[in-house]
Amino acid sequence: MTKDINKPNNDLRKLPPEVNFETPEIYRACIKANKALAELKGCCLRLPNPEMLLNTIILQESKTSSEIENIVTTQDDLYKATLDDIEKIVNPAVKEVILYREAIYKGVELYRQRGIITSNMLIEIMQTLRGTQEGIRKICGTKIANPVTKQVVYTPPESENLIREKLSDLEKFINDDNTQLDTLVKMALIHYQFEAIHPFSDGNGRTGRILNILYLIKEGLLDMPILYLSHYIITYKSVYYKLLNNVTISNEWTEWVLYMVKAVEETAKYTLKQIDEIIRLKNVTEQKVKDVLQSNIYKELTELLFSHPYIKIKVLEDKGIAKRQTCSLYLKKLSEAGILSPIKLWKDMYYINTALFDLLSKGIEMNN
Ligand SMILES: Nc1ncnc2c1ncn2[C@@H]1O[C@H](COP(=O)(O)OP(=O)(O)O)[C@@H](O)[C@H]1O
Ligand SMILES: [Mg+2]
Repeated sequence: MTKDINKPNNDLRKLPPEVNFETPEIYRACIKANKALAELKGCCLRLPNPEMLLNTIILQESKTSSEIENIVTTQDDLYKATLDDIEKIVNPAVKEVILYREAIYKGVELYRQRGIITSNMLIEIMQTLRGTQEGIRKICGTKIANPVTKQVVYTPPESENLIREKLSDLEKFINDDNTQLDTLVKMALIHYQFEAIHPFSDGNGRTGRILNILYLIKEGLLDMPILYLSHYIITYKSVYYKLLNNVTISNEWTEWVLYMVKAVEETAKYTLKQIDEIIRLKNVTEQKVKDVLQSNIYKELTELLFSHPYIKIKVLEDKGIAKRQTCSLYLKKLSEAGILSPIKLWKDMYYINTALFDLLSKGIEMNN
C-alpha cells in the first residue's frame, strides 16, 4: 500500500510494526553498537570529573543537532556565549544552541525525577529548546519539506486530540519493558514514530534527538547525555531524511533501524576517541599549568580551562580560584607560556584554550 505524502498521516500505526527485527544483519549490528556504547559508558564512569566533558561535548551535540535544522553558529561565538547569561545573548542562532543544551539538561533532570519518559516531558523539552510556551500543534497544514529542494516529503497527523492519542501510545511503548526488542532497535522505532507524529509546529527533529539520548539513559546504556549522535546524522543527513520517508511510504523498517544502530556505533566510537584525546590533552596541560604557576590551585584551574574553552578573569574569580588580581596574573602567565591565547573582544578580555578549541573544531569540521 503506498501513501499519499500530501495527506495528513492520520492512520499512523502504533508501535511495534509487524516486522521481524531478529535477522542476522540487525543482530550483528546491534552487538557491535552495544559493545561500543558499553565502552563509552565505562569510560565515563572512570572519569574523575565528568561534568567537565559534559559542557563541551553537549555543546557540540547542541551545535550539530541545531545545524541539521539549518541553525548555524561558529564555535567562537558559541564558547564566548557560554560565559554570558542567556538573556544577554543577542545572536538568535547562538541562543538556540545554548537553549538546546539547556533542554538536554532539562530532559535528564526530568527523567531522573520521574523515572519514566512522558509526553509532558517531551513538551517541556521542546519548550525549553525553543524558548516558547507553545504546546502541541493546534493549527492544520504542517508539512515537512526536503531542506534542499523544498519539496513536500511528509504530512503529519492533524488535530490536537489525535496527536495526543498517538503520543500517549508512544509513551506506553517507550516505558513498556516487555517488548522483547533490542534497546537500539527500539530506540530507532521510537525516533521514527516521534518524528512521524511531529507533535509540534517546530523543534520536532531536535526534541526527537534528545529523546534518543534520554531513552538510552533510561535503559542504562548511558549514564550521562554524552553521545554525540547528531555528528553522524548531519554527515548522512540526506540518508536520514530518505530513510524516515521510506518507512512511511513503503514500510522499510530494516534499513532505518540499521542506519540508527550504525549511527549509535559510530558515534559511540567517535565520542570515546574524542574523550580520550581531551583527557590526554588535559593531563599534559595540567603539568604545564603546575610548572608555570607554581601554585597548588593548578588542578582546579586546569579543569576550568577544560570546561570552558573560552574563559574570563571573572569566571576564575567566581569559581573561587583566587582574588581578581591573582586570577589576572595567572591568566597572564599562562598566556605568556603559550597555554592560553588572549583576545580582546569589545570591552572584555577572553583567554582561549587553543589546543582544546582546535581539538573540538577538528571534530566539527569532520561533519561538513
Ligand atoms: N519524511 C519524514 N517523516 C518524518 N519525519 C521527518 C521526515 N523528514 C524529516 N523528518 C524530521 O523532521 C525534522 C524537522 O522538523 P522540525 O520540526 O523543523 O524540527 P526542528 O525544529 O528541530 O528543526 C527533521 O530533523 C527530521 O527529524
Ligand atoms: Mg525546524
